[in-house]
Amino acid sequence: MKQLLIDKINNGTAIIGIYGLGYVGLPLAIRYADCGYKVIGFDVDQSKIDAIESGTTYIKHIPDESVQALASSGFEGTTDFSRTGEVDAIIICVPTPLNQYREPDLSYVINTVESALPFIRKGQVLSLESTTYPGTTEEELLPRIEKQSLKVGEDYFLIYSPEREDPGNEKFETRTIPKVCGGHTASCAEVGVALYEVAIDTVVPVSSTKVAEFAKILENIHRAVNIGLVNEMKIVADKMDVDIHEVIHAAATKPFGFTPYYPGPGLGGHCIPIDPFYLTWKAREYGLSTRFIELAGEVNTNMPQWVVSKVADALNAHKKSINGSKILVLGIAYKKNVDDMRESPSVELMSLLQERGAIVDYSDPYLPTFPKMRKYSFNLESIELTRENINSYDCVLLATDHDDFDYSHLQNCSKILVDTRGRYTNSPENVIKA
Ligand SMILES: NC(=O)c1ccc[n+]([C@@H]2O[C@H](COP(=O)([O-])OP(=O)(O)OC[C@H]3O[C@@H](n4cnc5c(N)ncnc54)[C@H](O)[C@@H]3O)[C@@H](O)[C@H]2O)c1
Repeated sequence: MKQLLIDKINNGTAIIGIYGLGYVGLPLAIRYADCGYKVIGFDVDQSKIDAIESGTTYIKHIPDESVQALASSGFEGTTDFSRTGEVDAIIICVPTPLNQYREPDLSYVINTVESALPFIRKGQVLSLESTTYPGTTEEELLPRIEKQSLKVGEDYFLIYSPEREDPGNEKFETRTIPKVCGGHTASCAEVGVALYEVAIDTVVPVSSTKVAEFAKILENIHRAVNIGLVNEMKIVADKMDVDIHEVIHAAATKPFGFTPYYPGPGLGGHCIPIDPFYLTWKAREYGLSTRFIELAGEVNTNMPQWVVSKVADALNAHKKSINGSKILVLGIAYKKNVDDMRESPSVELMSLLQERGAIVDYSDPYLPTFPKMRKYSFNLESIELTRENINSYDCVLLATDHDDFDYSHLQNCSKILVDTRGRYTNSPENVIKA
């Protein structure tokens, strides 16, 4: 059974099923199609399937041409999970958020698996790519598959292979980002490596699904903790009247043992503010607390408050208060050069400023209209950055430093500019670092 599946993968006749066609699933589908595989995309959102079939992208950094290439490769999209039996590989890329108590919400993964389960068959490989706590594949997926009278490692293959993505980073693409892969058994691992080796330049096998799950979580904890550290250093440096960005640039000249991380107005995106708490939750089962994660979370979560206090100080110096001031927030995406708003600290900033009585607007070249969000609602359109418009605000707050902004124009036209990204290194008089 194992060899049959590996042969199908290697001779290009395997059919690849991608479950969840979002930021992770869509580029993976494009990559497999590009390698000549037939791809079936499963999603609960028909509008994504329609968009792919009409060759239109719904993710800013993925061009229409790539989606068109996928559409013309023989791709089929469906919301009908009974077609699961048609595929040889089930690759799950659905969301893994936190619930309202900041605990793991595995409902998307479980729903996907439960929908596919009645239709799984011998000779398939199932790979979970969604980020999750160590143990998920063994505890949640394995027993469900075994209930279908399938023997994992003999006639069914189960792996965990986390996705690594850095939207907007032009140096890497799906093919060139090394992929960690752990199997439930040695045979599962062998199939997993075969599955990814045909599409990804470097596959990194590890001894178990748990190691692969932990590796992904560690990568994201590493970032969250280091960003927390540098955000704390920013506050200390600010009190000492030292520019933290100059400090980081100087420290980064050390050719070993130092990795630069940059402070900002808070954590954003789908991964870094969320994933570390998957481990926090799981560690509790072992009677352990994850103090670094909690501390970094606390520092990073307080950042928007700190930035707002810097805005208040800046206005105060001009005998103004936040209450009644017109404030323009630049950049509402969670990081530069993308249109992704998930967990964006800019939105938290806008909300805090509005609560304090400010009249808030925004400008973002990637988001012409403020999108509908679960927690926040702003009925706003992006402001055009003309001299008159910029100058009509009491304060301009640079939250996300898109490369498309004209920074000297912004500085020339602003009454006060609060810079949370260290864009203004030469300390112009009207710029306040935050
Ligand atoms: N976005 C990133 O940069 C990134 C990077 C690494 C890892 N991840 C992880 O990958 C996973 C997916 O993230 P994403 O950013 O692609 O999410 P996303 O929200 O962009 O996409 C998820 C897709 O899954 C679909 N979906 C929801 N429920 C489903 C179901 N029951 N069956 C089939 N499809 C369903 C949604 O409609 C959506 O199209 C998450 O675990 C995330 O943590 C994301």
